[in-house]
Amino acid sequence: MEAQLFTFKYSKDSTKTESIKQEPVELVMSAGAFIELRNIIYQYSGIFYTENKKYLLEGRISKIIFEKNMSGYEEYIKVLKSPRYRDEVNELLESITINETYFFRSEEQFDAFEKYLVPEIIKLKEKKEDLYIRIWSAGTSTGEEAYTIAIIIQERLQKKFPNAKFQVLASDINNNALAAAKKGIYKDYAVKGLPSDILEKYFKKTDSYYILNDGIKQMVKFTNVNLYDYNAIKTIKNVDVIFCVNVLIFFDIPSKQKVLSYLHEILNKGGYLMIGNSESLHNLTRDFKLLHYPKTMAYKKE
Ligand SMILES: C[S@@+](CC[C@H](N)C(=O)[O-])C[C@H]1O[C@@H](n2cnc3c(N)ncnc32)[C@H](O)[C@@H]1O
Repeated sequence: MEAQLFTFKYSKDSTKTESIKQEPVELVMSAGAFIELRNIIYQYSGIFYTENKKYLLEGRISKIIFEKNMSGYEEYIKVLKSPRYRDEVNELLESITINETYFFRSEEQFDAFEKYLVPEIIKLKEKKEDLYIRIWSAGTSTGEEAYTIAIIIQERLQKKFPNAKFQVLASDINNNALAAAKKGIYKDYAVKGLPSDILEKYFKKTDSYYILNDGIKQMVKFTNVNLYDYNAIKTIKNVDVIFCVNVLIFFDIPSKQKVLSYLHEILNKGGYLMIGNSESLHNLTRDFKLLHYPKTMAYKKE
């Protein structure tokens, strides 16, 4: 049995029963529980928690245990290994993913996408009959990256290449993030990088929110894809540009290599992979050719 399970914080005025507020206090995670939970997370997602990130798991999992009224890590781990593990594991993954994002997060990347990558792809495809350009925002979180791509298409690319049919697919492992993405309702933080004319043109402002217009929302198809799951990735085909930005940073080297090989497989020849500006494929794979653009890079499948 685990020793210290829950302690509760009470509001100062505990004489009034109705004012008693219980809040979970972080449960101390034993080294054994940490390893077990870390392995479960890794096995399903490729996300790897190093020892120095144990405190993050403690915070997030304590909250789940409290909400589920469980006795502690031991009981929770048992449930994660039980026949109803699938929903529980999904919920766990949803609570531990880092979903930070905002519109036009990496302007240089979107610039390279618009000015170099798409024109190159179109040049290649013009010889063929179909002019479909498929872009995938993999690990899109709450949709800002995918909608940024849609805005660029709507604003500039579609006018420049009227015959091209652009398709934007966006995915994440986190269903809560995807549900928020589909709503398209954002706070100040998400739109902080948007030029004011774009903000005015594509969003309706309310007191606290910015509501994205339906035209842009309809340009993006959202779906749940776990990048660590080959069967899920295989359902995505004929992709010309993959944005997998600030996602692989949470993986260890073997899982990065595994996911990169999947992405390479489903990318069209002549297609491009974008990763975060602080990320690199150095020493991970030789499948892609590194190309430099103003203040950014892209990886090409030749
Ligand atoms: C920091 S966000 C990046 C959002 C966006 N790409 C950007 O750069 O602004 C990382 C996202 O990767 C997702 N993610 C983490 N592991 C994943 C996996 N195995 N499969 C799919 N998505 C994953 C998380 O749920 C999270 O929404």
